[in-house]
Amino acid sequence: MTRHFLNLADAGGDAMAAMLGDAIDRKAARVGFPKGRADNDVPLAGHTLGMIFEKNSTRTRASFEMAIKQLGGDSMFMASGQMQLGRGESIADTARVLSRYVDAIMIRTDDHAKIEELAKHASVPVINGLTDLSHPCQIVADLLTLIEHGHALPGLEIAWLGDGNNVLNSLVEAAGLMKFNIRIGVPQGYDSDAGFIEVARANGANITVTRDAAEAAAGADVVVTDTWVSMGQDHAHNKIAAMMPYQVDERLMALAKPTATFLHCLPAHRGEEATDAVLDGPQSVIWDEAENRLHAQKSILLWCFGLL
Ligand code: CP
Ligand code: NVA
Repeated sequence: MTRHFLNLADAGGDAMAAMLGDAIDRKAARVGFPKGRADNDVPLAGHTLGMIFEKNSTRTRASFEMAIKQLGGDSMFMASGQMQLGRGESIADTARVLSRYVDAIMIRTDDHAKIEELAKHASVPVINGLTDLSHPCQIVADLLTLIEHGHALPGLEIAWLGDGNNVLNSLVEAAGLMKFNIRIGVPQGYDSDAGFIEVARANGANITVTRDAAEAAAGADVVVTDTWVSMGQDHAHNKIAAMMPYQVDERLMALAKPTATFLHCLPAHRGEEATDAVLDGPQSVIWDEAENRLHAQKSILLWCFGLL
């Protein structure tokens, strides 16, 4: 069976734990290496990752390119607007053709149905580099970052503030798989996907939704936010106004535990979802989080190839 990574549930909790452990080990094993040097075991030598981008990216593109390189393989970048995909070739035909050239396909797209269609017709692993629905690779990196900063995942109390978006959906999915809890503080009308919440609750996670930002943040071990306006959405004035009470500033951070960690997947819109004082403050681990996209993705790739 081809191993696709469209959502975290495709891997499941045990595989995610294996990925996190592998990422920690691989990261430690290459301390002091130049970034372009391959890991000693070059587990993906001879393998090429094709990467299709229908939306902009800094971290996902750069970290996947370096991830496959450090595993001994190569990457191929394809901007969808320069592909025949951009002028109407079907996703199914694109999947069939690319499967003859590359060993795995990563895609960043809008409608999640597109990645499902790609995976259905590809004979190589397909990896979700973000859709409007979810961003599973980001959450593997986020969990790695929390573990590195001393947090045990089971029972962890995570506060999410702001928009109910793709990153939150994957965080909710992870809560069910890794047994942590989330207090979601989002304004009315901007809730995250009800299906992910239902599954996470059925898996034993305590997921609460509140309109009160202070209630979400109170006593939390981790505070997380993301842009209020995701790619493809309008920077509507009424949305910004609705989000303002959920801005993560020093006052809101002070309601969390004194040891609380602050995460943001980036890019940040400084002064909107979080203030400079929080983003650059002592509780912020956003640069480690960004670095960990690289380490997490190496383990995701190894899982897709059946090596984890
Ligand atoms: N966090 C994240 O996915 O960043 P990019 O949009 O730069 O890839
Ligand atoms: N929610 C954001 C994440 C960017 C990495 C977006 O979809 O634009």
